[in-house]
Amino acid sequence: MKAPILVTGAAGFIGSNLVDRLLANGAVVVGYDNFSTGRAEFLAAAEKSQRFGLVRGDLFDLSKLTAAMSGCGAVIHLAANADVRHGLEHPLRDFEQNTAGTMNVLEAMRAAAVRDLVFASTGSIYGDTATFPTPEDAPMPRQTSLYGASKMAAEGFIAAYAEGFGLRARICRFVSILGPRYSHGHVFDFCRQLRANSKVLHILGDGRAQKSYLAVEDCVAGILAVLQQGSESEAGFCETYNLGTEETCRVSESAQWICETLGLAPTLEYGGGDRGWVGDNPFILLDTKKLQALGWKPRSTIREGVANTVEWLQANPWIFDEGAKTQ
Ligand SMILES: NC(=O)c1ccc[n+]([C@@H]2O[C@H](COP(=O)([O-])OP(=O)(O)OC[C@H]3O[C@@H](n4cnc5c(N)ncnc54)[C@H](O)[C@@H]3O)[C@@H](O)[C@H]2O)c1
Repeated sequence: MKAPILVTGAAGFIGSNLVDRLLANGAVVVGYDNFSTGRAEFLAAAEKSQRFGLVRGDLFDLSKLTAAMSGCGAVIHLAANADVRHGLEHPLRDFEQNTAGTMNVLEAMRAAAVRDLVFASTGSIYGDTATFPTPEDAPMPRQTSLYGASKMAAEGFIAAYAEGFGLRARICRFVSILGPRYSHGHVFDFCRQLRANSKVLHILGDGRAQKSYLAVEDCVAGILAVLQQGSESEAGFCETYNLGTEETCRVSESAQWICETLGLAPTLEYGGGDRGWVGDNPFILLDTKKLQALGWKPRSTIREGVANTVEWLQANPWIFDEGAKTQ
């Protein structure tokens, strides 16, 4: 049997989808999560598997994290403060959860002698880039969000640990992800608003922002594809891969698709301005040729991803009643 894979953030949106896929592929999986935004419901299927173990713990409990990693073959590090929009309300949070938290993962890996890492970074690290589609080696971008900056700093520590301690690291920069168990982001916000009042939908910005989105199944497939990269002998391996679709949609189009799927025709009220919030990037399109060269290709269109997300939210209204756990 292959060594277990430890997934931090296993109870989250992407983490729980990844755990289910790993288990379906026959892997032994250890989930690690503090349930700050994660939900036990997302792991209900995984918990039925003999090959799944859950550790309720925080990234900042270094001895628990190290013990959980003991005997694992790889770590997929997803735990983070994943909401890009509210950084300015809690200026230390992104640094603590995303940069310092990642340092703890690296230290635990060193102590437990685990060499293989996949890290969930973000397209937000490209800030206000002028290069589209944006390749992994775009000129060092100026950061626009505390979230992007915290992930960029974490990437730096990962590269230095790969160099200094022989880690094999794969950094994945995702665009926004859509699909089952989606619990934060604009589709969630729009659906929540329309549940409260189906007549009016308030939209941040002027609706013209163009973004790329990726279905969570495609995101998980990309993570598994990069995990295969870097052979046993390649200590110090550290490669970065963009994950996204080759298309974009405007926020106004996405709002239309959401309303159509819900069968509603509300008045759309735009806040104005080209950015939804301070630090928002009005155009996101990543160059994914590097990952596609490994045989990966997204299967869903953005429109399908939006519709699937709305349908999942409609079928799982409890997620609204409980309230968004992300602050
Ligand atoms: N969802 C997206 O659109 C998107 C886009 C780009 C990058 N990412 C990155 O992907 C990863 C997963 O995102 P997600 O959307 O699934 O977010 P999520 O909030 O659903 O999941 C994060 C999980 O990490 C756990 N967690 C947070 N802090 C922790 C801590 N200190 N100790 C232990 N567990 C902790 C939470 O309880 C949650 O289960 C994050 O690193 C995020 O930054 C997500």
